Amino acid sequence: MKRIVLSLGGSVLVPDLESHRITGYASVLAEISGRHRLAVVVGGGGEARRYITAARKLGIDDGTADDLGILVTRLNATLLAGALGEAAYPRIATTYDEAAGYASCGKIVVMGGVIPGQTTDAVAALLAERIRADLLVNATSVDAIYSADPKKEPRAKRQDRLTPARLRDILSVDRLKAGESTVFDMVAARILERSGVPLAVLDGRDPAILRQAILEGEFSGTLVTAGKKSPFPLE
Ligand code: UTP
Repeated sequence: MKRIVLSLGGSVLVPDLESHRITGYASVLAEISGRHRLAVVVGGGGEARRYITAARKLGIDDGTADDLGILVTRLNATLLAGALGEAAYPRIATTYDEAAGYASCGKIVVMGGVIPGQTTDAVAALLAERIRADLLVNATSVDAIYSADPKKEPRAKRQDRLTPARLRDILSVDRLKAGESTVFDMVAARILERSGVPLAVLDGRDPAILRQAILEGEFSGTLVTAGKKSPFPLE
């Protein structure tokens, strides 16, 4: 039994409220929790971005706009926890201490954002560090990390394997382009580097890809580790 933290992008789980992937994810996550200890950090997706844009247009400061984003991540987290039913701890954790406490009951812990100035990837990385997770998984809306943004750089190479330092290099180039969200949060990458928790970035648009990696050991995506050892298959 391994400890796994999953960063589940809001744009992956709830692209919009009318066509979400909550049902598909709930069954895969419940199955995973039968074999491993699982905590899920849910993102805000398009809805969070819409609230943040509306807040900016009203002249509201960025910290308050972030608070709105956090509220949306918790709304999405509440939907997921509800769909998980008995498999999940019934409260959404709002701090790392709460999450660590809830985890001791053996059910799936669900949380959203915590404080302004970061994204839920950072929350997931900090939680993974706190609970000494064996693996951090980032389920996102691309199939892997590339050497540059493949939409703008046709020669960008898919990366099967990266060190945390190389991940930071790739992210820092991306960050120079203002206002663009990156495949993984820079704060999260720094936490990962110090904690040494392995990161698996995979395509979250199909929950079967997560199931295959965690339960069958067939991982496809980008693995970020300091050493050569792969965490897959998870024993
Ligand atoms: P997300 O983590 O969803 O951002 O948080 P994201 O990476 O842009 O989106 P997806 O979900 O992967 O598509 C949404 C917003 O909530 C605020 C930030 O403003 C963030 O952009 N937030 C979230 C915080 O301020 N602190 C947190 O701990 C989490």
